Amino acid sequence: LSPPKPSRAVVAMAGSGKNGTKDSISKLVADLNSAKLEPDVDVVVAPPFLYIDQVKNSLTDRIEISAQNSWVGKGGAFTGEIRYYFFYVPSVLHAVFDAIPIAEQVKDIGCKWVVLGHSERRHIIGENDEFIGKKAAYALNQGLGVIACIGELLEEREAGRTFDVCFQQLKAYADAVPSWDNIVIAYEPVWAIGTGKVATPQQAQEVHVALRDWLKKNVSEEVASKTRIIYGGSVNGGNSAELAKQEDIDGFLVGGASLKGPEFATIVNSVT
Ligand code: G3P
Repeated sequence: LSPPKPSRAVVAMAGSGKNGTKDSISKLVADLNSAKLEPDVDVVVAPPFLYIDQVKNSLTDRIEISAQNSWVGKGGAFTGEIRYYFFYVPSVLHAVFDAIPIAEQVKDIGCKWVVLGHSERRHIIGENDEFIGKKAAYALNQGLGVIACIGELLEEREAGRTFDVCFQQLKAYADAVPSWDNIVIAYEPVWAIGTGKVATPQQAQEVHVALRDWLKKNVSEEVASKTRIIYGGSVNGGNSAELAKQEDIDGFLVGGASLKGPEFATIVNSVT
């Protein structure tokens, strides 16, 4: 498959929720506002929730804003929390209170996107495929774009299960979403996230082309050719150009390197 690429996508995650102060975010925004960014590349930043409004009020309109998560349905009356939910793992009922905003609020504060299914949500918080699919469907129905993360653990890769795991996670989105118009798939091998061990361009391309092929067989040829599939996991200004040369790598989900404005601009401009 040789997908048409009307525009490629780069998404920054400003440090997965833990990073950022008003001052550091002001500096990052100033760097991004003055950076020369390739016009054909869609750029999205996903600040921690508490700083979204600050970013919204100071960042150039050239760059869109994403939340790092959103909830499905309305919140409840739980002062100090935004909502709660129950889930079974694997047959024990857990109640979790946390601070995920509902998709309506994410949209209301000016985000166009939300990142869902991040490996930290899956493997630390315990969100399962079906639940993530539901959140994606809900966010899309509210008019948000979804950056739909998937990816295998190191032990799954070593057991030769990379494709099975990624296809299963992708299928959960496919089973739930009303349309693929507003979805970017982010392939992030968990062993590469925040570890400095980036996938080789060949390792990443092999999975990206397999994902596109899965979409072709299981959704449609059109969706397979139009859906952008971005790579995440230790992307930096030194490795992004080689990764971006791969036919099926349409951009990046950047963590650590997104905290440095000039380096992030280098990554954006390598996606051409
Ligand atoms: O949240 C972004 C993350 O998934 C990638 O992080 O630091 O490996 O680029 P990093």
